[in-house]
Amino acid sequence: RYEIVQRETRAEILPGVRTSLWTYGGTFPGPTIESQRGRQITVTHRNELPVPTVVHLHGGRTPAASDGYPTDLVLPEGWTGHEGHGMHDHRAVVTELTRDYTFPLDQRPTLLWYHDHRMDFTAPAIWRGLAGLHIVRDDAEEALGLPAGHRELPLMIADRAFAADGGLLYPSLDPALRERPGVTEPYLAGVLGDVILVNGAPWPVHEVDAARYRLRVLNASNARHYELEAVTDDGRRLDLVQVGADQGLLAAPVTHRLLPIAPAERYDLVVDFSGVPVGGRVRLLNRLGSGRTRDVMAFRVARRAADDSRVPAVLSTDLPGWRRSDAVRVRDLAFRTGRVHGGHGWLIGGLPFDPARADVTTRLGDVEVWRLVADVHHPVHLHLVGFRVLSRSGGPPLPHDAGLKDTVSLRPGESVEIITRFDGYRGRFLFHCHNAEHEDMAMMANLEVT
Ligand code: C2O
Ligand code: CU
Ligand code: CU
Repeated sequence: RYEIVQRETRAEILPGVRTSLWTYGGTFPGPTIESQRGRQITVTHRNELPVPTVVHLHGGRTPAASDGYPTDLVLPEGWTGHEGHGMHDHRAVVTELTRDYTFPLDQRPTLLWYHDHRMDFTAPAIWRGLAGLHIVRDDAEEALGLPAGHRELPLMIADRAFAADGGLLYPSLDPALRERPGVTEPYLAGVLGDVILVNGAPWPVHEVDAARYRLRVLNASNARHYELEAVTDDGRRLDLVQVGADQGLLAAPVTHRLLPIAPAERYDLVVDFSGVPVGGRVRLLNRLGSGRTRDVMAFRVARRAADDSRVPAVLSTDLPGWRRSDAVRVRDLAFRTGRVHGGHGWLIGGLPFDPARADVTTRLGDVEVWRLVADVHHPVHLHLVGFRVLSRSGGPPLPHDAGLKDTVSLRPGESVEIITRFDGYRGRFLFHCHNAEHEDMAMMANLEVT
């Protein structure tokens, strides 16, 4: 049992100024929850914020009643506001001051995250701080011998923009956005910040032993994509050895030098600092950034140390091996811009989100192939299930598509095929673009499992 009070707080994020935040439990990120596979937990959320909220455990295999449907609100005390604004008008389904969310966690061990999911208002709520980590573990993973203890570092990467007085700026109106082709309004492409936070701190420097570390990376940014590389003082790129994806361990490690990561994706990486001299630094850089957003964080090698960790050649043998011929249907889903109630918005299959419409109806246990196409960058996320990437633009998947995922990055003009089995629970779930602004601008749809 966990209790989390959602409340406003003021914290020193940038030196010398205070930033007012919306938090889970008074900190940003919220408290990291660690649980064991298959051991059900209940998290009670009380809302002391000035607005309604919704909690979703991203990547969790969760029954619909606790999955954080966007109209399933936890209300603040005395809330008299009317739900819905210009774009949608809707009624709240469930409205309470406190809410018990129950998570069976009957799933592969991995790094999950919880965040706000209120209809039309998710992006500003996450921006203000409503995000936290949740790690699911099991004995089989523990027995692999991957770096552990203080050599396992969850890294929540998120960009933000700040005013001179420390207040968060939203939208941040990064001028870089105006240069994106095909986008007429900067806000439409999503909100970027020019300060990179890792676990809530700007460009941190972390002291490490000259040994292997397990970096569990989450891109919790609203809209920013990164291409990560780990570079030593003398310009050497360290291997990023990927051991896991969004939904847990890969079958075998995959080595990257440069790793793209889209909003909401997670990569479980092992990086070996043993070849770096004591006193040396390794910078985690973002190749897609420029100026301040090129830096993410740094590691300073502080001491020599023994290391009995390892990266086994076989990491897991339980990955689902669905094949195209297992699919009972194929769906085409286009993620594109369009008109929503007279303004610009983002559509799936030509339609804006409507909580009253079932967009995709499938039967429990069915295997399906989805062909996703995009106009601009869209990180597409499915609730309830993990999936595998079958193809990209007619070719094979890329190295970073390995394993079981719950979010896949569609690049501009690209088509991606994914395959999954809709098992676990019946009910109404979601799929959507995880550019948080796109999500709020209606790029979300219902997934009905019957
Ligand atoms: Cu990260 Cu629908 O959520
Ligand atoms: Cu999710
Ligand atoms: Cu999008």
